[in-house]
Amino acid sequence: MHPLPPESIIAVIGSGAMGAGIAQVAATAGHQVLLFDTRPGAADEAIAQVGATWARLVAKGRMGAVESDLARERLRCIDTLHGAAGAALVIEAIVENLEVKRALFAELEDVVASDCVLATNTSSISVTAIGAELAHPERLVGMHFFNPAPLMALVEVVSGLATDQTIADVVYATAEKWGKSPVHAKSTPGFIVNRVARPFYGEALRLLLEQSADVATLDAVMRDCGGFRMGPFELMDLIGHDVNFSVTTSVFAAYFGDPRFTPSVLQQELVNAGFLGRKTGRGFYRYGDDAAKPVAQAEAPCDQPAAVKYAGAPGSVDALVARMQAAGIAMTAIEAAPGLYCGGVAIYLTDGRSATERAQADNHRDTIVFDLLFDAASAPRIALARADRCSDDAWRAAVGLFQAAGFIVTRLDDVPGLAVMRTVAMLANEAADAVHQGVCSARAVDIAMQKGVNYPRGPLGWLDATGMGQVVTVLTNLAATYGEDRYRVSPLLRRKLAADPQGARFHD
Ligand code: NAI
Repeated sequence: MHPLPPESIIAVIGSGAMGAGIAQVAATAGHQVLLFDTRPGAADEAIAQVGATWARLVAKGRMGAVESDLARERLRCIDTLHGAAGAALVIEAIVENLEVKRALFAELEDVVASDCVLATNTSSISVTAIGAELAHPERLVGMHFFNPAPLMALVEVVSGLATDQTIADVVYATAEKWGKSPVHAKSTPGFIVNRVARPFYGEALRLLLEQSADVATLDAVMRDCGGFRMGPFELMDLIGHDVNFSVTTSVFAAYFGDPRFTPSVLQQELVNAGFLGRKTGRGFYRYGDDAAKPVAQAEAPCDQPAAVKYAGAPGSVDALVARMQAAGIAMTAIEAAPGLYCGGVAIYLTDGRSATERAQADNHRDTIVFDLLFDAASAPRIALARADRCSDDAWRAAVGLFQAAGFIVTRLDDVPGLAVMRTVAMLANEAADAVHQGVCSARAVDIAMQKGVNYPRGPLGWLDATGMGQVVTVLTNLAATYGEDRYRVSPLLRRKLAADPQGARFHD
């Protein structure tokens, strides 16, 4: 499918944060862009703002002066919707309200040509519902940019029940031409990103509720062990708890109370208190010049154990063994359950049971579990949990072993699945269900999470890297421990695993 040609006119309705950004993207791509806002002066202000952004880019040498002047000439505001009559594509970025959006598109239908594509940037309203009362709902499609639109590559191209596939394809091709990474999605609550990302916040909030560690420690583990750019608590503080909590409650309600999406009482209390995050100076953290930055927990230095044995397993243990050997630690291979063994202590990658449960099942008191690492070769930190009856000597041996391999060792309380593994397993499970339910393709969900929320790896790519069997075991054990439907395994994961128990992969 061909993108809209550069000579076609784009109209952007609503010149707030998103509308201005989208107008900037379209004008940079070579289109004439018309900007409309009901608030007098708003569109002019937005154009001035975009002009200032281009001036900064020119000053930094990232945009040519001529290119910037031409783009600025292509961008102008219109005083009434009638000014959008010649547009080939209208992108709506007004207030997030179904009735207001419906009224706007009804008015637009009378203004624009019959082949004009209508797009909504809604992040949470059903595209099907927005289009329902149109004479031609087939030409309405979601074109969901992420904030800030000029910097974030993802565009979710969202098809409602009535959307014509060729319209979705034109918008997809156009977004691609604009340098974006589009993905197709069906109009379902949260589309892809706002649905699949829920566990990133939801599991962190559960871990905090269960007192596994403080927020600074959990954030450090998610960053340093999980490779996420920001920890969940600092990210929620940045997004604002009012916004994040409202997305969670709306996705939860839209899925008729599915426990996967249950909001957290902790976040509800922050909203009740008005501790909305950075913007109010207090959220999980305190902000301001006098606010002390909390430090993540780290174990004091311990001696390196004398003799270390291991039983290999692709991915988890093998990568750690390679790092330990590279650090000069002598390691002997043995036949045993995959893990590391030293000073009487057995150290395993978490399988979704607490260390205490595993110690009981194995009848081995000195049991320790470690959390999933995004990259075992370079991670600066590792998170460990010890069984309740594990001896201090055994704990020190394990801590000393990881420290000798260059890790900062952080202790989490003995919560099942720890932090990174539990989060990644739930992200992958949600991604698998989105694919299973036809919301998007496996490739799309991985692109969406990398380009829309900057995850270091797509959840299904992560599933393949971790091993589908391991992830399904983690989820199954979490479901057994909590007795909650929240941790139920996606039927698609079970099916793929049954078809190929050893080598099941999501991506071919
Ligand atoms: P905003 O509040 O910054 O801007 C909305 C603008 O629309 C305002 O300038 C307002 O005067 C104008 N407006 C309101 N009703 C109008 C109407 N009937 N006709 C013309 N202009 C009208 O909002 P923001 O953040 O730019 O969001 C806009 C849309 O984009 C919403 O649907 C939102 O859900 C969606 N969105 C927002 C994201 C974000 O992070 N802020 C991310 C992705 C989508």
